[in-house]
Amino acid sequence: MRKLTLMAKVQDEIGHAQLLYSAAETLGKSREEMTNDLINGKSKYSNVFNYPAFTWADTAVIAWLIDAGAIVNQVANSKGSYGPYCRALDRICSEESFHLKYGHDSVVTLATGTPTQRKMVQEALTRWWPPIMHFFGPSDKMSQHTEILMRWKVKMASNDDMRQQFLNTYVPKIWDLKLTIPDPNLKFNEETKKWDYTEPDWDEFKRVINGDGPCNAERLAVRRMAEERGRWIREALLNKSEKYVVPLA
Ligand SMILES: [Fe+2]
Repeated sequence: MRKLTLMAKVQDEIGHAQLLYSAAETLGKSREEMTNDLINGKSKYSNVFNYPAFTWADTAVIAWLIDAGAIVNQVANSKGSYGPYCRALDRICSEESFHLKYGHDSVVTLATGTPTQRKMVQEALTRWWPPIMHFFGPSDKMSQHTEILMRWKVKMASNDDMRQQFLNTYVPKIWDLKLTIPDPNLKFNEETKKWDYTEPDWDEFKRVINGDGPCNAERLAVRRMAEERGRWIREALLNKSEKYVVPLA
C-alpha cells in the first residue's frame, strides 16, 4: 500500500513539473528550449534532487520534510504578483499537503517501530538534514537574487525567513519522535525568537547547484534517456502519425 502511495506521489510531482513548465512558458520560452537547457546542464534545479535515497526511510524523510520545505516556500510565493505562477503554486500546495501527511505517517511508523526501523529512519534524517537546510537557498546576506525577486513580488519571503518558518514548525515534531537532528548548535533562541543553527556548508550547496553533486550526472543522464526514448511519440503526435508504429518490444 505504501509503495502504491509513493507511486501516486511521484505521479503528482511529475504533474507539478508540467504545471510549472506551463507557467514558465507564459514568459515566452518554449518547452523544448527549457528541456534542452535542462538536459544540456545549463539550467539549475533544486539541490535536493541530486542526493541518493539509499533506503525506504529516505523516501519517508523526503516525503515529510522536503515536501514540508516545498510547502513553506510555495505557500508564501503563491501570494505573489504573477498570476500564472501563483495559480500553479496554489494547485501544487494542495497536493503537497497529502504528500506531507503520507511522509509524516511513514516517519512516525518507522520511528515507533522496531529498533532496525528506528535506526534506519535516524540515519536517513542524518543524511538529509544538510540538504534540507540548503533547500531554502543561501543565507540572506549571501543571496544574489532575493532583493529583486522580492521587489517584483515573485518571492514573498527571504530564504532565512522561510528556513526559520520551517524550523519553527518541524523541529519540535522531529524532537517529539525522539529523533536526533545532526546539529549540536540547533536551539530556539529566546532573545531573538529565532532558531540558532550551524551555518550550512554553502560551498557544498553551490557545487550541487552548479552540477557537481553526488547524483547530478546520473539524474541528467536518465532525463536525457527519457527524452531520447520519447522522441518517437512526440513526433507521432505532431501530425506525422502515419509514419510511426508503436514499437512492440
Ligand atoms: Fe510532493
